[in-house]
Amino acid sequence: MKEDLVLPAPREAVTGGAGEPLLVVEGLTKHFPVQGGFPIRRTVGAVQAVDGIDLTVNVGESFGLVGESGCGKSTTGRLITRLLEPTGGTISYRGQDISHAGRKQLAPIRSEIQMIFQDPYSSLNPRQTVGKIISGPMEINGIEPDGGREKRVRELLEIVGLNPEHYNRFPHEFSGGQRQRIGVARALALEPKLIVADEPVSALDVSIQAQVVNLLKKVQQDLGIAFLFIAHDLAVVRHFSHRVAVMYLGKIIEVGDRTSIYTRPRHPYTHALLSAVPEVDLTDAGAGRRERIRLAGDVPSPIAPPSGCRFRTRCWKAQDKCAAEEPPLIRLSGNHDGHLTACHFPEEPTIEGREEDIVLDPALAALEEDAERQ
Ligand SMILES: Nc1ncnc2c1ncn2[C@@H]1O[C@H](COP(=O)(O)OP(=O)(O)OP(=O)(O)O)[C@@H](O)[C@H]1O
Ligand code: SF4
Ligand SMILES: [Mg+2]
Repeated sequence: MKEDLVLPAPREAVTGGAGEPLLVVEGLTKHFPVQGGFPIRRTVGAVQAVDGIDLTVNVGESFGLVGESGCGKSTTGRLITRLLEPTGGTISYRGQDISHAGRKQLAPIRSEIQMIFQDPYSSLNPRQTVGKIISGPMEINGIEPDGGREKRVRELLEIVGLNPEHYNRFPHEFSGGQRQRIGVARALALEPKLIVADEPVSALDVSIQAQVVNLLKKVQQDLGIAFLFIAHDLAVVRHFSHRVAVMYLGKIIEVGDRTSIYTRPRHPYTHALLSAVPEVDLTDAGAGRRERIRLAGDVPSPIAPPSGCRFRTRCWKAQDKCAAEEPPLIRLSGNHDGHLTACHFPEEPTIEGREEDIVLDPALAALEEDAERQ
């Protein structure tokens, strides 16, 4: 295939275009040391969990970060909320470099950046009442809202769709979906400007996932809070995000606005992820039939990622160049501003059905065979 023409990425493409940047991440890196050796243990390598990513979240914007298990999403979220110390790169929040900020320097902005965790069972203290859990952040930060903390907690319970009278109940008295609502109320308590939501619905029953996503969407829109919404598939973020970045083995391999990513993906991996999204109706864009791409094999180890393009061991289009040169994240010709792709031999900007049926993920294959037998 002919190599695509590339245009230099203008700065606004990298920064996400319109909108005032709230969070700017550049070259962010986190390598976890791997210990080994006997009898003396020493560092023998590093898990390259996050390896030089750039992203910008604008004020009030919802930004989706998607990728398979182990690609570095949570590590990215934990770096941004400064629960982890970066190995390299910079994190700027409202123009202030917080990459290595200490406790004192972080104190004024701690309340502005909140996190919602994946597991609503382990993230709430079982011995505290809902009132205590939600007012906890106000207490820690010495914030006394007008009318008192209890009044504010009751308001927050109402905002997240829970009964304010349940102020004195304990987490075990609530269902998983309700507990995640409590987590949302706690995150809202300090009127944050940015919420990092790390797979906030994956631990919930499929039947209630949509309710919680809708609540987050409402909160995001009504209160104008910027979100970094982490998910492992594209279905969840589709309904939520203005822009989406796709991660693979510690790198961002494609980023763009929602429409661009869902209707004109260029990276083979994005195509593969999209074809695994059951509810995406590919006939939307005039495609003749449902596209089916199947990923072969496992994600390689982030301790020794493949040379060049990290996706090449699973890519059906890989050529010699893919092993020799790492593809830069750039704007390809025909793509909108802000849609960047890291691939030497990108797909056509269409989601039309593919002729060939590409190798199937073994787990998916087993499921399909089961379904056919029944
Ligand atoms: N504290 C740690 N020490 C060593 N390795 C770690 C640590 N935390 C994460 N890793 C490794 O870094 C890589 C990225 O992990 P991370 O949790 O960020 O992935 P993820 O995309 O959130 O995955 P998932 O979808 O399963 O939550 C993985 O290989 C993981 O094993
Ligand atoms: S650079 Fe090569 S291996 Fe990587 S996604 Fe593109 S075609 Fe596939
Ligand atoms: Mg994770």
